Amino acid sequence: MTQVTEAPAKTRAQIAGKTLRRDDWWRQPAINGTFLAIVVIYLTWASLVGKDFFYKPYISPLYSPCLAQQVCEHGAGYSWIPWVAGLTPAILIIWAPMGFRLTCYYYRKAYYRAFWQAPAACAVREPHARYTGETRLPLILQNLHRYFFFIALLFNVILTADAVIAFRNHSGQWGHMGLGTLVLVVNAALLWLYSLSCHACRHVTGGRLKHFSRHPVRYRAWTLVSRLNARHMQFAWISLGFVLFTDLYIRLVAAHVITDLKFF
Ligand code: FES
Repeated sequence: MTQVTEAPAKTRAQIAGKTLRRDDWWRQPAINGTFLAIVVIYLTWASLVGKDFFYKPYISPLYSPCLAQQVCEHGAGYSWIPWVAGLTPAILIIWAPMGFRLTCYYYRKAYYRAFWQAPAACAVREPHARYTGETRLPLILQNLHRYFFFIALLFNVILTADAVIAFRNHSGQWGHMGLGTLVLVVNAALLWLYSLSCHACRHVTGGRLKHFSRHPVRYRAWTLVSRLNARHMQFAWISLGFVLFTDLYIRLVAAHVITDLKFF
């Protein structure tokens, strides 16, 4: 028997009215859109401002790894590269975490709905007449997500190292813990949860296998990642909010607006 596979429809679902919904379907896209707009505004400002992102031993996650020696004590010092010289350390690296988040399956859903109304929600008429999915530029670039995943893991390692370094005191001796240390530890943990719950991670651990029984380690990893994956949306929002909070906390401490609470 010949199997017939239907090509995806090029037109959108036809709905006579504006919507078939009777609930407040617009509320969630509106909340998501507002929060994402605040995030973009804050990140743009925080990345461009180029100061108050470091207060020994704390460094803002937006500026780590810090690649500009002139403004960052433990920076790698690439300021001799002409096109890099005028940029803040955050601008040099922000493409990586931003690329990871922008291409994230969950965020795509959130911003497609909030900003492009493609679709705004189920059973709501779309303003767009044609549908090309993610098969053309620029949306075909969403496929880079699987590569951004590995870059994000590298950043997680660096931010985890920053959290460990935050157990040193101002003069570099180990055994310090302040509220900033705790903030950096929680931030790193949330970033790991977000990354490990990624759909690409699920594919890395369990994809392309025909028999889980022959790969018990990968099966266990896939089971764990799948459990995390069920909470990916929550990890996406919480970790994003916490990155901003971490940056703000270190910024306020560095600017001497608040004092870091010292535990020991
Ligand atoms: S799907 Fe969201 S980070 Fe990969």
